[in-house]
Parts: sequence; C-alpha cells; structure tokens
Amino acid sequence: MTTRSSGGDVITDGFTSNCYKRLKDKVCIITGAASGLGEATAHLFASHGASLVLADVQDELGREVAAKIGAQAIYVHCDVSIEADVAAMLDTCIRHFGRLDVLYNNAAILSNVGPLADMDISKFDVAHAVNVRGVALGLKYGARVMVSGGSIINTTSVAATLAPESADAAYTSSKHAVLGLTKAAAVELGQRGIRVNSVAPATMFTPMVMKGVQGTPLSLDMLKAMVEATTVLKVQDGLRVEDVADAALFFASDESRYVSGHNLVVDGGFTVRARTLQHPLQVVT
Ligand SMILES: NC(=O)c1ccc[n+]([C@@H]2O[C@H](COP(=O)([O-])OP(=O)(O)OC[C@H]3O[C@@H](n4cnc5c(N)ncnc54)[C@H](O)[C@@H]3O)[C@@H](O)[C@H]2O)c1
Repeated sequence: MTTRSSGGDVITDGFTSNCYKRLKDKVCIITGAASGLGEATAHLFASHGASLVLADVQDELGREVAAKIGAQAIYVHCDVSIEADVAAMLDTCIRHFGRLDVLYNNAAILSNVGPLADMDISKFDVAHAVNVRGVALGLKYGARVMVSGGSIINTTSVAATLAPESADAAYTSSKHAVLGLTKAAAVELGQRGIRVNSVAPATMFTPMVMKGVQGTPLSLDMLKAMVEATTVLKVQDGLRVEDVADAALFFASDESRYVSGHNLVVDGGFTVRARTLQHPLQVVT
C-alpha cells in the first residue's frame, strides 16, 4: 500500500520511517532554543525540513542559531513564564508561517533553593514559573492554534519520576509537574488530534549543568567522573544532546502518529536500576 504522509512524502506500507525529510512542510516552535538541547534540536529539525520559530531569552545566542540555520528559521524573544510573551510567540508563528504543527516546550532552569528546612521560597517560585507555568502557557496557546491536530513535546528529566540527589526539591518537583501536565494535556487534547509527549534526559553537559557547578568546589572533570560512576549503559561519549534531539524528532514526526501521553526516557537505563548493597547472586555464589 502506498500512501502520502501529512508532510507530503510518499510512504509505503504505512511506514514513515523511510522518509529522509521527516519534518518536511512542518512548522515547529522550540523554546530554550539558544543553547544546549534546544539548539541541537533546532539544527536536527531544520535538517529534516522543518520551518522553525526559535524562542529564548538569550537573544544574541538565539539569533545566532537562527542565522546559522538560514531562511527557514526565525528567532523571537520569549520569556516562557510571561503570558504575553508566549501569546506573542504564537502570534508571530502564525503571522510568519501560517500555522503550527509542532510545539516543543523545552526551556527550563536549574534551581538552587538550598536544603528544605532553609529553603529560599522565592527561588522555588522562579523555578516553577519557568519550568511549569512556562509549559502550561505553551499548552494553552499551542492548543488554541493547533486547529487541525499537531504534536506537543515537553522536556521532562529523569527527575520527573525519581528524586536524584544531584537535583534540589524545586527542580525535581517542577519536572514531576511537567510530566503531570504532559499526561493531562494528552488526555484533553487527544480529542482534537493533538498528541502530547515528553522526553526525559539524564545528565547532559550543557550550559545549564556547567552553570550549576559554577561556584561549587566541583570541577567539570569531577562532575563527569560522578556521572560516569552512575551510568548503566557504557558507550563512548555517554549521553549527548543529539541523542535526546533524536527522541524529540520521533515525537515531532508522523512516525509517532499514534503515540501520546508517553514519557520517553533517554537515560541509558539510569531510571531502571535499583541500587542494592550487594547483588543477591553474589551472596549465594
Ligand atoms: N542538562 C541536563 O543534564 C538536563 C537533564 C535533564 C533534563 N534537562 C532539561 O533539558 C532542557 C534543556 O536544558 P539544557 O540542558 O539544554 O540547558 P540550557 O541552559 O543549555 O538550555 C536551556 C535554554 O532555556 C533558556 N531559558 C531559560 N529560561 C527561559 C525562559 N524563562 N524563557 C525562555 N527561555 C528560557 C535558556 O536561555 C537556555 O537557552 C530543560 O528543560 C532541562 O530541564 C536537562
């Protein structure tokens, strides 16, 4: 059977995975696109033919990413925690490209609220404003313009299902909330043909993580050694932003046309390992 995907590519036997340009004719917004995972995803989506609205608060870096990609990408300043900014980002997308097919809510910040008993609650509020309210606003305005279906992707984390000791309570609770928003939105928006999924990375050495160690006694090499000690899957270079961008590409493309409400962990098995003092088999052998 030969059919045609919504992207216009000819596909055979119902499969889309043989399409080279997996996002041909798709209009995508990526938040947090000026650096790290968002930047890598912008380049990957562009190479698959997407038209892109790249949003961030780091304007200079964001414009550079858009300029490198070329005419198919525009940059908009958008603080995802501010409703007027998110509404304006969606307006710009519709004015410039005429519609929206994929919204990737990726922007987030780390937090440093300190131990719970001494928590700086204003820092907690800031982390939740960007990480949770930012995603909620994306869902609100994205849902308004996705009139004939679409795909929404959120970036969660391994901290959406676990409480890693490396993250504080504000970050961990914010990512749990993003997972909750992903599920609730998948149920509600599924009625309108909109799929909602999330990607959940383990540690990637992006500017977010580099900033996190600044002002601490940890060096990057020490951090890398600590991460290496907790990894399950041993592969050269460990987890790269490109690995997570590939997972986002799957959700953005028609290959995931019947996948919704899914949290795709890209963590090399980190979240399935249960740490025990000693392997039971080692006790009996
Ligand atoms: N790096 C990791 O180890 C790791 C692990 C798990 C999940 N994540 C998640 O991956 C996503 C991307 O993070 P990254 O590691 O690429 O970090 P990053 O700091 O390199 O990129 C995040 C981007 O978001 C932007 N941003 C911050 N606040 C914003 C706001 N209010 N409005 C708009 N943009 C804003 C930043 O300017 C930056 O460009 C985040 O959701 C993060 O929580 C990262």
